[in-house]
Amino acid sequence: MGRDKKFTRVLLTGGCGFIGTNLLRFILEHRPSWQVVNVDLLTYAGNIENTVDLEKRYPSRYSLVRADIADAQKMEELFSQHGFDLVLNLAAESHVDRSIESSSIFVRTNVLGVQVLLDACIKHQVQRFVQISTDEVYGSLGQDGRFTEDLPMAPNSPYSATKAAADLMVRAYIKTYGLDAVITRCSNNYGPYQFPEKLIPLMVVNASRGRKLPVYGDGKNVRDWIHVEDHCRGIIVVAEKGEPGECYNMGGNAEKENIEIVRMILRHMGKGEELIGYVKDRPGHDFRYAMDFTKISTTLGWRPEIDFEQGIHSTIDWYLSHESWWERILSGEYSRYYERMYGSR
Ligand code: NAD
Ligand code: TYD
Repeated sequence: MGRDKKFTRVLLTGGCGFIGTNLLRFILEHRPSWQVVNVDLLTYAGNIENTVDLEKRYPSRYSLVRADIADAQKMEELFSQHGFDLVLNLAAESHVDRSIESSSIFVRTNVLGVQVLLDACIKHQVQRFVQISTDEVYGSLGQDGRFTEDLPMAPNSPYSATKAAADLMVRAYIKTYGLDAVITRCSNNYGPYQFPEKLIPLMVVNASRGRKLPVYGDGKNVRDWIHVEDHCRGIIVVAEKGEPGECYNMGGNAEKENIEIVRMILRHMGKGEELIGYVKDRPGHDFRYAMDFTKISTTLGWRPEIDFEQGIHSTIDWYLSHESWWERILSGEYSRYYERMYGSR
């Protein structure tokens, strides 16, 4: 196992999105010596309301900069100003369905953005770069087997193709320039603060409003679900203990068919299955993802801890008790918040 690395000046990108928000909270609570700059462009998926309390609670340890990771000049300014020793890159366009509609912004953020950050890391001799990748780079499984790190990448959606391209850029910078970088590949996350275009929050919101729950195809596609807190803990373990140049899978050991998830949500909310509506399948829809995370558990001692049934119930309850959070997103009110709060500053 690698020696624990020590960091103090941390750049976290995409901190106003789902995983970024949870990771920021985890770091500020569990790593008191870390100072964190959150660089987020506040796209449709970035919600400043998710993190606004952190600026008040941790005024000397946390700050937000609204910027594009693909803006090389701005990144140069920030790296010069802060002298980061760790970069955690979560900023991305992340929704498969949007990538099918149009993929150019995915290439810009997920590939060009990563290249800009990698160049800045080399120039400013950043101690470690962590790329938050995804199980989707491996493509799709049949009924059997699990993804291991040594499988060739075989992405099927424009989203996963851009994430795979980024992983290859990271690999090239490790080999060519000797960059200390590590990659994490995790399965589908669930938990608080997920944008309500993704399966679980979308279904909770629709059930709560008495709308149809749109299940793609026959609902038999399988995902391996992990609670976002388990993923966040794993990212920090990899950042501190991961071997330079290595890639680590993470999964939740909770494979479920989509229809099972939808039924669990309806049951927990006391709603009937007549709300389920089968709709046309997603083009190129990956059938099954399943993670083999033996490597990270045997070498770094990480494994998922949150039981799926408990985790999904507490997650559903979180959305039900945060109706105003998702109502502001759905009405578009959340995107006007930044201009109101920060527009004239
Ligand atoms: P998200 O869409 O909720 O958040 C993405 C964040 O990145 C948003 O705050 C957005 O404003 C910001 N962003 C987008 N483009 C930017 C740019 N050009 N510059 C700066 N900021 C920008 O995504 P998420 O679900 O939190 O995923 C975070 C990361 O984790 C992504 O890299 C994703 O590929 C990866 N991942 C996600 C999952 C999952 O299940 N959600 C699983 C495995 C890996
Ligand atoms: P999603 O949350 O978009 O994550 P990903 O595509 O990255 O795995 O979708 C999870 C699964 O749920 C996927 O198989 C597609 C399916 N799905 C639906 O059936 N209906 C929906 O409305 C959405 C958003 C997803």
